[in-house]
Amino acid sequence: MSNSLVIKKKIKTFKKVITVSGDKSISIRWVLFASLANGTSIAKNLLISEDVLAALKAINKLGIKSKLKKNLCKVYGRGVHGFKYKKGIVIDAFNSGTLGRLILGLLINSKYKIKLIGDKSLSKRDFKRISDPLTKFGAKFKLKNKKNLPLTINGSSNLKPIKYFENKGSAQCKSSVIFAGMRTEGTTTIIAKKSRNHTEIFCKYLNLPIRIKSHKNYDEIKVQKIKKFKALNYNIPSDISSSAFFLALTVLSSNSELLIKNVNINSSRIGVITILKQMGVKIQFKNRKIYKGEKIANIKIISPKSIKSINCPSKLNSGAIDEFLLIFLVAAKAKGVSYFKNIGELNQKESPRLKWGEKILNKMGIKTISTKDSIKIFGNPNLQVKRKIIIKNYLKDHRVFMTSVVAALSFGGHWNIHDKNSINTSFPKFLKIINNLKK
Ligand code: S3P
Repeated sequence: MSNSLVIKKKIKTFKKVITVSGDKSISIRWVLFASLANGTSIAKNLLISEDVLAALKAINKLGIKSKLKKNLCKVYGRGVHGFKYKKGIVIDAFNSGTLGRLILGLLINSKYKIKLIGDKSLSKRDFKRISDPLTKFGAKFKLKNKKNLPLTINGSSNLKPIKYFENKGSAQCKSSVIFAGMRTEGTTTIIAKKSRNHTEIFCKYLNLPIRIKSHKNYDEIKVQKIKKFKALNYNIPSDISSSAFFLALTVLSSNSELLIKNVNINSSRIGVITILKQMGVKIQFKNRKIYKGEKIANIKIISPKSIKSINCPSKLNSGAIDEFLLIFLVAAKAKGVSYFKNIGELNQKESPRLKWGEKILNKMGIKTISTKDSIKIFGNPNLQVKRKIIIKNYLKDHRVFMTSVVAALSFGGHWNIHDKNSINTSFPKFLKIINNLKK
């Protein structure tokens, strides 16, 4: 079967209620916390995607059993020090930066050397940003080219707490150091630029020894060695990043309306909502509730009559970090020039996303001016794509694939988008939901 998707028609007006899959960041964190708990943790609506399956395989390698039936998952935790494994194990994080980086924090006290590998895309990404702080605790690392996978970690039984300044706004770095701090005697202090805070929310919910002082632009986190905690049953909410593809599709379609149910609207994740609102889109949160410290709501969105350009405040970057490809598409249809700055981190993702975002726009005939960490997008409210567009060789970045589908359905043209299987990384149900909107 072909692994390319051909799209030649725009989507028609739709008015629907949809549910997207479970949140990826929360799903992976649940697997990792459950692997440390005492007893059987159960998750409903766990995201069943390659990244999360990789997390389950990783804890299995560490001697923790799990069972999966549809999207109900059981993890049989054996306590904080319950990992059991032989010498010479290899953990494969596949495509997942979150898994690869977070799990290293848990391996800081490993008895034996452990090798961490990943796929082609993950093997190009920066792991020095994690090995540097973890080395200060006392672990030893060997990395390919001093910064990439494969790497080996050699943990220590004589760990020392550290003071760590996280200045990239990376939740993966912050979380990895929180995990390492949870295994280290004494107080680890993290001064972190604002980023998604699911790890901290899990810690608080589980009553683990963490203290957080929130400042305007950064958080001061103090974490101590953890002791026993109970199994964690959890109902995973839907993913705002997966929802964002349908938010963008609604914005770029005419007279359409969508209600997306039960979405995690953690304030550190809703940059895309704030940005779209500033661009003139009407979005409402309905039936708000709090579940185990996480905010959840149904999201209602209506296609706007017109889209305003934006000079995007940098403080919104971290909360929208996975949604910029989509935001660029919206800017392509805006009236005027939009400007996004300090977004160099986008080039550190599954593919160099700032480059890919620009490439997609240019292929559609949109003018852009970019630097290594910014882009100006010259919007065209009447944009109609007529040409043939091929999207390929993008390191199978799931978000490049899904953004291209949204572009094809919104702007027209004749698109051939390669590597359809890339959606399995984060959102295997994506095309099913798209097809449902077409009915
Ligand atoms: C994630 C953090 C972000 C994000 C990624 C998921 C997480 O990465 O891009 O998709 O779950 O912690 P960075 O921490 O590198 O910004």
